[in-house]
Amino acid sequence: MSSAIVTQRTMGERYAHAFARSRQLFEQARGIFPNGVTHDARYLEPFPIYVDRALGSRKWTVEGRELIDYWSGHGSILLGHSHPAVVEAVRQQMERTTHPGACHEREIEWGRWVQRLVPSAERVRFTASGTEATMMALRLARLFTQRPRVLKFAGHFHGWNDFLFPGADAPHLASVPGILKEIAEYTVIVPPNDLDLVEQTLRSDPAIGCVILEPTGGHWGQVPIRGPFLHGLREIATRHERLLIFDEVITGFRVSPGGAQGHYGVKPDLTTMAKILAGGLPGGGIAGRADIFDHLAFRSGKEKMRHPGTFNANPLSASAGIATLQIVADGSACAHAIAMARLLRKRLNALFAERNAEWVAYGEFSCFKLLPGYRGPRPENDDFVPHGGALDKLDGGNDPSLVSAFRCGMLLHGVDLMGLGGMTTAAHTEADIERTVTAVAATLELL
Ligand SMILES: Cc1ncc(COP(=O)(O)O)c(C=O)c1O
Repeated sequence: MSSAIVTQRTMGERYAHAFARSRQLFEQARGIFPNGVTHDARYLEPFPIYVDRALGSRKWTVEGRELIDYWSGHGSILLGHSHPAVVEAVRQQMERTTHPGACHEREIEWGRWVQRLVPSAERVRFTASGTEATMMALRLARLFTQRPRVLKFAGHFHGWNDFLFPGADAPHLASVPGILKEIAEYTVIVPPNDLDLVEQTLRSDPAIGCVILEPTGGHWGQVPIRGPFLHGLREIATRHERLLIFDEVITGFRVSPGGAQGHYGVKPDLTTMAKILAGGLPGGGIAGRADIFDHLAFRSGKEKMRHPGTFNANPLSASAGIATLQIVADGSACAHAIAMARLLRKRLNALFAERNAEWVAYGEFSCFKLLPGYRGPRPENDDFVPHGGALDKLDGGNDPSLVSAFRCGMLLHGVDLMGLGGMTTAAHTEADIERTVTAVAATLELL
């Protein structure tokens, strides 16, 4: 028997022992949910962990094991878990009403915060999720431009609605099970970071009405996108009279209080948001130009886009959102989270160099990515992009068994990563970062 198999078995046994209660719960869950999970990304071999509670940068499993958390609520938490201001705001709102079935003051306050912070937000509408927000942005764009198609970038994720899911994951041009090919024909997918190709595509296809992107790169920077590309897109979209949509579901209120558009000084026509917008509770929204939003208004003799939705501007989400945005406004929460992620990337790269490990950490703002099988130059700063940003090398999909093994190893050493990466919050500390680096070192040994 090879030593690799012995090591693997040892880790599997240690994992099963450490998370024994999670395993029991998973056995129950398998009889209820496909694969036992309620979100694809939570699927983990041999079984996922079950979390009981979370506070600040930490969470505790049902076994009582403490973990440093880099899921940060799938990116929805910037202030740390259960920030007292958010808890108190939601508690007070809970006692008043969870759903008045009517307009309410909180939605106005929430909308004002969006107008105040997001540079392009002349008008706002709230939805129940980010997926609904991007779906709404597309429909509005179709009405406004009278052009049916959308241009998106390979590897960019905009939720799971039929028009935007194609191209989100490698292989990017493959059909998506359950999405009609007639629908997928309305989605034009091009690789990121090629302005000439975008321009050529818009010129040759008058049916394209809008361009949507994750402004720091697909899957929050897997293939990073930088300011010059955003400025270039803005100029091309304006010149060709197409709408530019920033999907700021992740970057909104994380990259800066004004999102990526605030940081780079580029104004999209429409912006989709969720996650931090609703302070870690369910919720989404879109913001943008008043003349586009007119299509949502009742106007006599004019076509209107209908917008129902039971949980639009839900007051619990609104109160969590207001409490969060109030704190985010001065920029210090974003700055702290960014400093912690930068420190983590730097410390991890020092570790990889010291160990001569074929790994590299990269990313920007409060996000980090770990890339295995890397033998190129070592990064010196945040500008670093491995493999020159090659889509197939950065977003080709990692070996799932390596990802599972790495995650299990990290969990055994007290850290919960989001795949091979994660996001920091204002609650992460330098001590968390040091513990994480130690956990990575121990996991590399274990692997
Ligand atoms: C950039 C981006 N857009 C849209 C979505 C979809 O948001 P939701 O999960 O709230 O539907 C996500 C979710 O992770 C996202 O990362």
